[in-house]
Amino acid sequence: TRYARITGTGSHLPPRRLSNADMAALLAERGLETSDEWIVERTGIRARHFAADGVNASDLALPAAQAALQAAGRTADDVDLIIVATSTPDMVFPSTACILQHKLGANGCAAFDLQAVCSGFVYALTVADSMIRAGAAKCALVVGAEVFSRILDFNDRTTCVLFGDGAGAVVLEASSEPGILATDLHADGKHVGILCVPGTVSGGSVLGDPLLKMDGQAVFKLAVGVLESAARTVLEKAGRTEADLDWLIPHQANIRIMQGTAKKLKMPLDKLVVTVDEHGNTSAASVPLALDSAVRSGRVKRGDTVMLEGVGGGFTWGAVLLDF
Ligand code: ACO
Repeated sequence: TRYARITGTGSHLPPRRLSNADMAALLAERGLETSDEWIVERTGIRARHFAADGVNASDLALPAAQAALQAAGRTADDVDLIIVATSTPDMVFPSTACILQHKLGANGCAAFDLQAVCSGFVYALTVADSMIRAGAAKCALVVGAEVFSRILDFNDRTTCVLFGDGAGAVVLEASSEPGILATDLHADGKHVGILCVPGTVSGGSVLGDPLLKMDGQAVFKLAVGVLESAARTVLEKAGRTEADLDWLIPHQANIRIMQGTAKKLKMPLDKLVVTVDEHGNTSAASVPLALDSAVRSGRVKRGDTVMLEGVGGGFTWGAVLLDF
């Protein structure tokens, strides 16, 4: 049987780090109040990174992709598929994947973007897994890269303190051993309005609002339920149980959602990988950033069973179960 297996991970954060105190100072300039205490208690976030002016998603994706290739012992020449999950692309078109491809020097291979907001990486990994198992690719670069700071409304304290910028990447290769064991993707478009950037460029100029809107409580309630059900589905598909899980790496949006999911899966909290405290919510980049951080710190090891989970705008959600 032909499987797809992660052979390398990488990530990159832009250097500018803003603590909650820095955010409070930024908001105070606009006459808005927030505090480290409020943000930590409600979300678990202590800091986030923002890209400098002129730095785009592909600029963050490049060092993340290069680190993943190096970890896999591969070069750009080996890559035959690039998928970039992003909701903050460099341009409307062409895709950020094409721009990244050229920066990497991997010209010629298939490259496209995938848009599923915070579920983007889990969606992209599922698509790459399917293409590899079908024989359409051998060595895929799967990237999540976001500059969410560009779409934040700094006059809305309920959203702008939650998000950050960054990129994470994996190399996924054809293998005779698993690898990815099971995947499960969903969307429910009736919830478009609870988390969206409603503007469009289809009218020849930016029409409507180009900044993020979110009904935080509606998102919260949906997220906990769907994350549990996606996790149970992939375990069942793979013939595994919660007890087999070494690590849970959910989308890093809010520590309360993440801990709620771990509890429902009866997982001790020390098996939950947490980077939301230092990264904030980096949307499609959050899962590969957290995975790379856990791999490089020596927590996630070869052979460990890992559950990745995404949830976000759309509403979209999904899970990937894998042996690392
Ligand atoms: N600082 C201080 N006070 C604030 C802030 C802030 N930054 N933001 C809101 N408040 C105030 C509100 O105005 C409100 O005050 P009031 O009671 O006087 O009206 C009070 O705090 C409580 O506000 P709520 O919105 O009820 O706070 P809640 O406990 O629901 O927390 C939060 C809000 C953190 C957004 C929470 O709902 C949440 O995390 N939701 C999930 C969001 C999420 O995970 N999104 C991402 C998932 S998908 C994706 O990643 C794209």
